[in-house]
Amino acid sequence: MTPQRDDDRVLIFDTTLRDGEQSPGISLNAQEKLEIAQQLARLGVDIIEAGFPVSSPGDFEAVQTIARHVQGPVIAGLARTAAGDIQTAFEAVRDAARPRIHTFIATSDIHIEHKLRTTRADVVAQARAAVSHARELVEDVEFSTEDGFRSDRAFQAEVIAAAIEAGASTINIPDTVGYATPEEYAGMFVTLYELVPALRDVVVSVHCHDDLGLAVANSVAGLAVGARQVECAINGIGERAGNTSLEEVVMLLATRRDRLGLSTGIVTREIARTSRLVSRLTGYAVPPNKAIVGRNAFAHEAGIHQDGVLKERSTYEIMDATTIGLDSNSLVLGKHSGRHALAQALADMGIEVSGQALNVAFKRFKEIADKKKQVTALDLEALVADEVRDADADGLTLVAFHVESSSERPPHARVTLRTSAGEELQGSFTGDGPIDAIFHAINAATGVDAALVEFRIGAVTAGQDALGETSVVLEVGGVSGAGQGVSTDIIEAAARAYVRALSTVMRRRAEPTPIEAQPAVLP
Ligand code: KIV
Ligand code: ZN
Repeated sequence: MTPQRDDDRVLIFDTTLRDGEQSPGISLNAQEKLEIAQQLARLGVDIIEAGFPVSSPGDFEAVQTIARHVQGPVIAGLARTAAGDIQTAFEAVRDAARPRIHTFIATSDIHIEHKLRTTRADVVAQARAAVSHARELVEDVEFSTEDGFRSDRAFQAEVIAAAIEAGASTINIPDTVGYATPEEYAGMFVTLYELVPALRDVVVSVHCHDDLGLAVANSVAGLAVGARQVECAINGIGERAGNTSLEEVVMLLATRRDRLGLSTGIVTREIARTSRLVSRLTGYAVPPNKAIVGRNAFAHEAGIHQDGVLKERSTYEIMDATTIGLDSNSLVLGKHSGRHALAQALADMGIEVSGQALNVAFKRFKEIADKKKQVTALDLEALVADEVRDADADGLTLVAFHVESSSERPPHARVTLRTSAGEELQGSFTGDGPIDAIFHAINAATGVDAALVEFRIGAVTAGQDALGETSVVLEVGGVSGAGQGVSTDIIEAAARAYVRALSTVMRRRAEPTPIEAQPAVLP
């Protein structure tokens, strides 16, 4: 069933794992997607678009895993209008308590002529057939007019009317290429409500891209004229310049409720943690000045501002940092804390870890507690995310490494890796610096000549003893992949990130051709 709504309640449709995951270089495995989906459920999103099941076996597995394990939100799978797409999406989401099939077809003449190479009449027929097919399988069907904003309104109205007649209960009208201004996007909905009176009986949805920096403004303009579902992604990730940022649209509705009169079911205290998790697992850093979740979003630099805030917070602050959970960096555990205290601290943070996973987390915690005076919630979060990455059994893992360097000789690194089949691989290399040496030693061990595209180092918390967090993007034969690593030792963090990025690239190279590269499939 489509989630029910009050008149002012906006449904949050999170597409971090589908449109967001289409960002270049992002390739999450099923375990990582499940972890993000569980956090999205804690955040209180109404619908999780878990992926595009027909696009690859990996995506199918991830959507199915999420459908089977994540409680609360509706779980949606994307499908083109082809019968095979719809059936595959159904197989992936069918075990969810509340499954949704989201099917789409382009309605702009540019797309119909050049991409689909078909006719308007065929598009109407495909839309009708796809929605009818999906409705035979599930009750909750969403239909989208891709490139909706650049479509001829009368024709778009005809397609939407056909989809509603066939049983779609949510109609999503995207600005796929991020071209609209807020007035134009709102105007499109006003026209469509006039042309298709049945739109008043379904949930109308906005889906905007940020090519001109207007995704949030356009989404809110659509909500202001009657749409009640917003499709968005954590940290605004997505195709090209990205999607509407979930945290921005939610905090805009919350902060300016006086003006907009709309609300969401989001547990805003989970926003900061969700943003960190997505950034960590995707390898996409959050810019320091990003609204809501950037490092500086609540920082005051200028003396006049600091003085004002000290006297009265509202002089320069329109939101309270605690509202989005930015106060979670308080000390939680000390050096002598035991396994039970660790499990309890993690549970308090909403992270359930038990059995072997708890043993591994405890071992890592002790290593960190030996080196760090204070272990904070942020440290624990980073550590658990780091462990989840190695739970992916089909990748390589770093078993041991050693780097020798002296003032007379350039650094020499030796590494031992383990494959998923249990085989040990060894390699060594003398490099320009310790990180260069270890990266090349990993290439030598695997026999893969990976090229380093991006390498970033950050710190989980402030202070000299902070945990180091690294992110690596690699490319092999035109296929790229990202990996992250966390450790008190920056060389170890870098090596972990490199090994994981290499595993991602190797897994992606072994997968069938991604869907974007295939010709359009017509039913
Ligand atoms: O941007 C878009 O048009 C999409 C559709 C598939 C909903 O992502
Ligand atoms: Zn999109």
